[in-house]
Amino acid sequence: MSLEGKKILVGVTGGIAAYKIASFVRLLKKQGAEVRCMMTPASFDFITPLTLSTLSGSPVGTGFSDSKTGEWTNHVEWALWADVMIFAPVTASSLAKMAHGFSDNFLMATYLSAKCPVFIAPAMDLDMYQHPVTKENIGRLESFGYTIIPAENGFLASGLDGQGRMAEPEVLLQYLTDHFHRDGRFYGKKVLITAGPTHEAIDPVRFIGNHSSGKMGFALAEAATSKGAEVILVSGPTHLKTAHRQIRVVPVTSALQMLEAVQNHWEQADWGIFASAVADYRPTVAANQKIKKTEENLHIDLEKNPDILSWASANRKAQKVVGFALETQNGLDYARGKLEKKKLDAIVLNEIGEPGVGFGTDTNSVKLIFKSNKIRSFELQSKQELAFSLLNELMNNLYE
Ligand code: CTP
Repeated sequence: MSLEGKKILVGVTGGIAAYKIASFVRLLKKQGAEVRCMMTPASFDFITPLTLSTLSGSPVGTGFSDSKTGEWTNHVEWALWADVMIFAPVTASSLAKMAHGFSDNFLMATYLSAKCPVFIAPAMDLDMYQHPVTKENIGRLESFGYTIIPAENGFLASGLDGQGRMAEPEVLLQYLTDHFHRDGRFYGKKVLITAGPTHEAIDPVRFIGNHSSGKMGFALAEAATSKGAEVILVSGPTHLKTAHRQIRVVPVTSALQMLEAVQNHWEQADWGIFASAVADYRPTVAANQKIKKTEENLHIDLEKNPDILSWASANRKAQKVVGFALETQNGLDYARGKLEKKKLDAIVLNEIGEPGVGFGTDTNSVKLIFKSNKIRSFELQSKQELAFSLLNELMNNLYE
């Protein structure tokens, strides 16, 4: 899991967005993190300590002493425990306290004792967010080396619409994932990734497609971004959204559009990872109007789509090219054949038929085959974890 064993201290202050911290804590736990929460008294109106202690599996820090036993809660010990601290939501008032060192509650005292990286996700009404003093406080906190996770635009509790909403839990998670996965070898590298299916129009309402969910391609795009690469994600139609604000998503529908998008970005790329399940054929003619069911039999003429991966490989300068192969039998032979024919540096072999492997699943187990014929097997794991493992292995081998 991408945050396995990491110790994350979550500080919650008294804003309406505090209710979202329940799902943030769940996300962190799902990623294998150890979580402790601290709350200011003002935040109890929005979420209870019991909720957060249950979800985090750990007592919540709410004050300098336990109200029942009178025992002192050592804020310095809490601060030293943490690998990172993330404060979310942070109200205008707490932001000001953080910027100026007011230590009037347990959360603030722990913050002032921090020796680890600190992330701060402000949340307030739009005018408060735009106020010069808030901007100055944010600038001050950044000057201390802390990371501000900017508020998002949207509907606010006041009924107004503007910047001030706390970043969504998925975005908070992404900041932490990035922090722990930075990898200098990916800095300055541009990675082009294709993902998802393509839809080939039969008429205005129908298409030929496949069951590809796009999950593996999206996971690779997010992992490469977390490692520090610049990512262009050319994606066929999927329901997926990425919480990663840096990824440049180029949405396409058909294979021809995907080819055009790849052609537009290929020259600047350093790597290409082609995870898309491109439809092999498209209707020769897409009808302008909906086809009526007047005939007993309907024949649709199909023509072959261009092979996007082969185009990229044939038109490369120094780009590393990685393909995918989805096979139901003789996987290694077919995958090796594709690697040679398409002149790839490596190919990821997906052998479907086993539980948890292939289209639409959240997990995958693959083999990575290099041009040198070196093979590395990856056991069944989440597509997110697998994406990190694949990128590490590719980086270790492709620049030897
Ligand atoms: N690919 C592509 N453009 C196509 C077809 C495939 O870029 N028109 C890429 C896929 O993204 C994947 C690899 O090529 O990286 C898959 O190779 P391919 O030979 O198309 O695999 P299959 O479609 O499974 O081939 P076959 O049906 O012959 O097994």
